[in-house]
Amino acid sequence: MTIVAIVGAQWGDEGKGKVVDLLAEKADLVVRFHGGNNAGHTLVVDSVAYALHLVPSGVLHPGKTSLIASGTVVDPDALLQEIAELTDRGVAVGPDRLKVSDRAHVILPQHRLLDVAREAQGSDARLGTTGRGIGPAYEDKAARVGLRLGELRRLDDFRRRLERALVEKNFLLTKLYGMADLQVPSVEAIMERAKVWAEKLKPYLVDSAELVKRASADGRRILFEGAQGVQLDLDHGTYPFVTSSNPTAGGVCVGAGLPPRALDHVLGLVKAYTTRVGEGPLPTELHGELGERLRKAGREYGTTTGRPRRCGWLDALAVRRAVELCGIDHLAVTKLDVLQGLPELKIATHYELDGRRIDFMPADADDLARCRPVYESWPGFEADISKIRRLGDLPSEARAYLDRLGELAGAPPALISVGPDREETIVVHQYF
Ligand code: IMP
Repeated sequence: MTIVAIVGAQWGDEGKGKVVDLLAEKADLVVRFHGGNNAGHTLVVDSVAYALHLVPSGVLHPGKTSLIASGTVVDPDALLQEIAELTDRGVAVGPDRLKVSDRAHVILPQHRLLDVAREAQGSDARLGTTGRGIGPAYEDKAARVGLRLGELRRLDDFRRRLERALVEKNFLLTKLYGMADLQVPSVEAIMERAKVWAEKLKPYLVDSAELVKRASADGRRILFEGAQGVQLDLDHGTYPFVTSSNPTAGGVCVGAGLPPRALDHVLGLVKAYTTRVGEGPLPTELHGELGERLRKAGREYGTTTGRPRRCGWLDALAVRRAVELCGIDHLAVTKLDVLQGLPELKIATHYELDGRRIDFMPADADDLARCRPVYESWPGFEADISKIRRLGDLPSEARAYLDRLGELAGAPPALISVGPDREETIVVHQYF
């Protein structure tokens, strides 16, 4: 196995940072292929926590190359800040170790302002975005008016295209969203920043598809690090409550320029329960004391925005859909330890929709919002499992729960995380 993709099989926040970090140890190249700094990956190494947003989690391993590929959207200030913070903490992130695609689109101030202005429009239109300008930047890409990082090499062209793009965006910001002329970004202000971006980021820029092609031809071990989760996929998620990119395994091919047959293996990340941050249907959501207990025990607050995550029971229909859409071979089950002490564990195996029992996720978000989960009940486990390193040593109740998850999802667990630290992991099947 040389080329592995890791995807989130739920609504994001499945604990990808830790698992990518574990696999990155053996990979040569670690690649982010979609999304931007809406992601937040938390890693704990030697009890020190790192929160990464755009820089691939492989960066914490010396000697690895990390790549931000062309399918991403990059906020240059956010990227520079992340590089600076890592450097301050002794993690070297120079252009020898981090590469950024010259085809990646730039998130500009008008994108962030539009994202926030739309979200402020009232509850009907609210998606609960991260407010990082992700959607508006991808909109410009699709409308073919976006700016790409490579254009920082020719600031005259950058300026010309920016002037054109800003006219429309500033019209929207002032006339539709009521911002004062002084509040909207000016060409001059952005160009001042663009000079800094050009100077600092040009050494990082590469043709990312070419880099991936060469690494693959040389038999290098490549790890593709998905962000968000399959249920937030623009095409296959709970539209419109989704992100603007493709966290599915297909997104690897598009976002990194990898031929579809080149992927050797897909690992699906599944939290041992369910969380979601932002708006949109979540059939197994727990509103009462139990939901609060999971939030507290799992420290379920967004890495990027600090928002409390909505918590609920495991939804096997969501996980199975991710397995089917992505061709997931194995699951990596995270945060199993958070369930410790619960007398009963539940897994949704079906939904009731308008009096009918169904075994799939409906395409329409309103239909999904009306779905009532049908649960199977499993006994919980009492013991502290954080020190366990072998599957056979887990309490029988925990094993039964994992077995059932694998059966319902259609993919067995290859890795089980029993605590936040790198070491707190049970490895059933080794990649690379
Ligand atoms: P956006 O990606 O900021 O446009 O947000 C769209 C939706 O995706 C919102 O519901 C966000 O909360 C959600 N989202 C975006 N990034 C993440 C993530 O990394 N983890 C979990 N949810 C996310």
